[in-house]
Amino acid sequence: MDRHPLQACTEKPVPGHSLATRLLIALALLLPLQPAAGDAILEGERHHPVKAKNGMVATSHTLASEVALEVLKDGGNAMDAAVTAGFALAVTQPRSGNIGGGGFMLYAPGNGGAVEAIDYRETAPAAATETMFQDEDGNVVPDRSRFTHKAAGVPGTVAGLAMALERHGTLSLEEALAPAIRLARDGFNVPDRFTEGLEQARERLQRWPATLDTFYKEDGSAWQPGERFRQPELAKTLQRIADEGIDGFYEGKTAQLIVDEMERHNGLITLDDLKNYRPQVRQPVHGSYRDHDIYSMSPPSSGGTHIVQILNILEGFPLSDFGHNSAAGIHHMAEAMKLAYADRAEYLGDTDFVEVPLDGLISKAYGESLRKTIDPDRARPASDIRAGDPGAWESPETTHFSIVDRWGNAVSNTYTINFSYGSGITVTGAGFLLNNEMDDFSAKPGEPNAYGLIGGEANKVEPGKRMLSSMSPTIVRRDGKNFLVTGSPGGSRIITTTLQVLLNVIDHDMNIQSAVSAPRIHHQWLPDEILIEQGISPDTVRLLEDKGHEVVPGSAMGAIQSILIDNEGTLHGGADPRRSTSSAMGY
Ligand code: GLY
Repeated sequence: MDRHPLQACTEKPVPGHSLATRLLIALALLLPLQPAAGDAILEGERHHPVKAKNGMVATSHTLASEVALEVLKDGGNAMDAAVTAGFALAVTQPRSGNIGGGGFMLYAPGNGGAVEAIDYRETAPAAATETMFQDEDGNVVPDRSRFTHKAAGVPGTVAGLAMALERHGTLSLEEALAPAIRLARDGFNVPDRFTEGLEQARERLQRWPATLDTFYKEDGSAWQPGERFRQPELAKTLQRIADEGIDGFYEGKTAQLIVDEMERHNGLITLDDLKNYRPQVRQPVHGSYRDHDIYSMSPPSSGGTHIVQILNILEGFPLSDFGHNSAAGIHHMAEAMKLAYADRAEYLGDTDFVEVPLDGLISKAYGESLRKTIDPDRARPASDIRAGDPGAWESPETTHFSIVDRWGNAVSNTYTINFSYGSGITVTGAGFLLNNEMDDFSAKPGEPNAYGLIGGEANKVEPGKRMLSSMSPTIVRRDGKNFLVTGSPGGSRIITTTLQVLLNVIDHDMNIQSAVSAPRIHHQWLPDEILIEQGISPDTVRLLEDKGHEVVPGSAMGAIQSILIDNEGTLHGGADPRRSTSSAMGY
């Protein structure tokens, strides 16, 4: 399989890197940066944040933003709105919103109290083995970890959202599920992006009869923009959770439907795996950057660790003087990114199973030592870089939302089923898609996974283990107060996407909408190239090439839904125009 990152976005192989191919890719794939028809983002308005005083919601789907905003207006808090949005996205955005996957949430109370992370990442089933994605000769069989029932980890979303609501919400689970059940049962009019996604993934999804029945019309065609799409089986599955709590998913009828699905197709998830699934409360990674406190997701995500590590490296460079997206700025960012991704490959994994040298990786001293290896004038070849001594490409189809309530409480949540529509396999009779998160493990330590990221021994498959992630829900505090709530989909580009929004706000003084919309770059050590979005000037590219960088035009990166709280307490919402259904709404 071609390892080029663009493949993940197009779902089509992108052969080679010839100039002609690149030009075609650039033309075709830069289109997602344009708002789709019907998304009335007018020229000149695009970079203005939505402002409000009492509450703000930024999600990747207007319907989810609407129901979450209603919760805030009715007196609910940020967590009530977040859990409501999480379930609503599972109905309205089946390519990434989910109950069949998992994710991470950060909660930062408005009173300055401790920031908490909730880890509801999927786990490997008890029958999983280190070599389950290799053939008898020890070669990786890529499709096995992506498009079979063995690709699914034990889902964590239902337990995670329920735990978050119980710890910090005021609504009952039944109340938080009500809008999602209504949207599934009564249906909703699908936007362009819904139709486009199902048309693009048709071949992969229609292999599975339950997926065909659930997401396509009787004649096999996709629901067209404006048509009403209903999901009666999903409505019943959600109703069982409303009636019985998490047992309505992890035990009883839904659990049995999942296990029946597994047994018909040699999958591994058992009733015990489901019953034993537990979300975890974790300490977020905490670092600082130019007088801001950075909180982000700890392992089993690599996100927070490497955001803080890269910020520590960059803190010693005058990024603001270099200028936003100048050649000097991009060069220093790319060099720092390479070093962090080399460490990711070596050290990161589930801390319940392996030692991760976390304190070293996020220490200022280690950041300083790495900074000294950066040459301001020359790109360092990736082949010269190995993990330092501090002591997987994934799919871009994940989804993030950020919410702040009138008390200043903030929720930053990223969850996923991995690829667009996950494994593509719908649980027959239950109406939801299963993740293919097992592909985020290293199928064979040392070899690149589906999208070119190298995975290490620390991330090998083990029963009950959580696979390494890049998801990086992030909250920044300034003077002890919640200041910026952000996070993104984008596979391994999540880390660099989130990083650049932080830099755009803190170093380049952008308003939140400009920070979100500005063109982004990405380097992940291997492949040794800087991916750039539309909008980086040809002059800058030439200067980067003069320094020895390979620069490759790529598709839009991430969809970072963000909220900034200014000194007066005004909330500024920045929805990412890279997703045509994104919306920030406040009141
Ligand atoms: N599957 C995407 C991630 O967890 O980073």
